[in-house]
Amino acid sequence: MMKHGDIVPPNRFRDDFAPLRKEDPVAYLDNACTTMRPDSVVDEINSYYTVTPGCAGRSPHRWGNSVTHKLVQSRGLISKFIGATTDEIIFTLNSTFAINQVAHGIKWEKDDVVLTTDKEHNSNLVPWLQLENKGLIKHSFVHSNDDNTFDLEAFEEKCSTIGKNLRLVAVPQVSNLDGVTNPVKEITKIAHDYDAEILVDSAQGVPHNKVDVRQLDCDYLTFSLHKMLGPSGIGVLYGKEECLANLDTISGGGKTVSNISDHDVQFLKPPAKFEGGSSNYAGIIGAKAAVEYLQSVDFEWLRSHEVRLNEIITDGVKDIEEVSIIGPDSARLRGGMTSITVDDIDVYDLSIILDEAGSIMVRSGYHCVNSWFNSKDIAGGSLRTSVYLYNTEEEARQFVDLFEEAVNALR
Ligand SMILES: Cc1ncc(COP(=O)(O)O)c(C=O)c1O
Repeated sequence: MMKHGDIVPPNRFRDDFAPLRKEDPVAYLDNACTTMRPDSVVDEINSYYTVTPGCAGRSPHRWGNSVTHKLVQSRGLISKFIGATTDEIIFTLNSTFAINQVAHGIKWEKDDVVLTTDKEHNSNLVPWLQLENKGLIKHSFVHSNDDNTFDLEAFEEKCSTIGKNLRLVAVPQVSNLDGVTNPVKEITKIAHDYDAEILVDSAQGVPHNKVDVRQLDCDYLTFSLHKMLGPSGIGVLYGKEECLANLDTISGGGKTVSNISDHDVQFLKPPAKFEGGSSNYAGIIGAKAAVEYLQSVDFEWLRSHEVRLNEIITDGVKDIEEVSIIGPDSARLRGGMTSITVDDIDVYDLSIILDEAGSIMVRSGYHCVNSWFNSKDIAGGSLRTSVYLYNTEEEARQFVDLFEEAVNALR
């Protein structure tokens, strides 16, 4: 595994990933959807099932104690990784559940408004629309600049118009539509100036950036381990202690109460209050291994690596006739992501050709940002490449060559 300060070519990571050790590995460019997992993560998951397959926090035997201990360690490491305390980290199913916990846990008051961007992943849109449809909140959104970057001025104006009814701002740190990073620190400052809380959807943020919740000063932050080398089925909700103290749990049940009678229930303090029922123990243990792996990665290097590959992809496709890139022209402003539309060609067909003819895996469709595509009348969505630490320049070039060939073939 990589150590701090090692200067090694990206290929060094590849040895740690079983799918990449195959003789003829695929070029996996769908990391915004989910990443591959290194051996250390798979081994930890496996060891839960094969060595200590017990329940945490309940059974006093060796297996139970071992799992309890590993959960404490995992929560400790993850909290440190984002600059939080252990009481502020709640294990959830994924980002979606974490956002829903906030949406359905806040005690809404009449005329409360939730403000989002105009290009939200459904996970940061559907919960607010559900609440709006029940008459509990009003949902409003800020239009992006023409190049899809965040319009801070329009945001501030919107906050001012909504005024005292603004209760929560909920924005992605990095968009999964186009890879654009939002200025969440500035957004947070403005939200707080208007006495609103802020939720940062960091599903595409934490995997690629060093995040410190104290520096951001956000009230809630959510992410999923499967997008950062960890297991599926494990997410994290970070909440400031005072925010979690006021939040109702949507997972009331086993292990959440300090006292209970036929008609009354007293909840334990966070995080226990929010983690009802038996957990994904293997997932939480594997999450620790994923974060340990990421701790050995220099995030500045990661950023420049992703941008370098994205520049190869951007330069290779931008001049092909009928091709448009969603978001800013500069690859640098889109991190490791390129979202492409091609006039009169179905991006689904392109993605199938890339996979079948070249073992190049990309995503096509709406990427769960249906509302944005609908508002622009773009049928079929886009073809999206998204790179991570184990991808190589060679893979980016292979994509460009086959993409151009496939576009020409389908014309
Ligand atoms: C920006 C963003 N938010 C939320 C989610 C939802 O994550 P999950 O499916 O792990 O709940 C995703 C997943 O793609 C995402 O990209």
